[in-house]
Amino acid sequence: MNDNYSEKFEKMRVAGKLASQTLDMITDFIRPGISTNKIDQICYEYIKDNGGYSAPLYYRGYTKSLCTSLNHVVCHGIPSDRILDEGDFLNIDVTTIVNNYHGDTSRMYTVGKIPVKAENLIDATYNSMMNAIKILRPGIKLGDIGYTIQSYVERKGFSVVRDFCGHGISSVFHEQPNILHYGKKDNGLELKPGMTFTIEPMINSGKYDVKVLNDGWTAVTKDKSFSAQFEHTLGITENGYEIFTESAKGYRKPPYN
Ligand code: MF3
Ligand code: CO
Ligand code: CO
Repeated sequence: MNDNYSEKFEKMRVAGKLASQTLDMITDFIRPGISTNKIDQICYEYIKDNGGYSAPLYYRGYTKSLCTSLNHVVCHGIPSDRILDEGDFLNIDVTTIVNNYHGDTSRMYTVGKIPVKAENLIDATYNSMMNAIKILRPGIKLGDIGYTIQSYVERKGFSVVRDFCGHGISSVFHEQPNILHYGKKDNGLELKPGMTFTIEPMINSGKYDVKVLNDGWTAVTKDKSFSAQFEHTLGITENGYEIFTESAKGYRKPPYN
């Protein structure tokens, strides 16, 4: 690659690699008895020890280093003294800053045996993200991404959260364009080489409606149905895409063994 975005992509690669390594590293800690605060602390230190910084810390008043969203929490769950128990499933969302550039990625983790409906939801959420990633290339439209995700999960009886979306990302954590996870084919902004953004579908087992708790962050499903999410940071190349946050250990979706 010899063009005007190769330096940006090199920095995105470094930040993205640390974020995905952090998710790899925490995998074996996700067992009954660990608190979400402990997960936060371990990841904070790992990121710092590896030359990075946690972007969520002090971002718009947020006081933790990552988000832990359990069961019916859609996103932005705040680490606390909550202890993980058999049957819990959660999203851990890590965003690193390395040399001023961001890597943003999240995966689902399961604790022991979880409900079959949650297993199916997690599977569908992962597949919807990957289906959308596989169509990425210059010339497609943002609506094609949303359509791919929405049509896949709705066919399975699940719903796409409307109140949160993916985002442009580079030296800025959240920038234009918004990446909606629902939409119409051949609609919206056209993708161009050099663009960098996240795809991070939040999929509910029930209705898509969300409410934010009084802490100002924690978003939950209104109907208490389950919610799942995965996230990758990506770049558009001359004829396709690059995933900056792929797991070096080959961890894609649970179970990770
Ligand atoms: N990592 C989240 C995202 O995917 C944002 C978390 S912002 C925080 O965009 F402040 F809640 F951490
Ligand atoms: Co994001
Ligand atoms: Co994120």
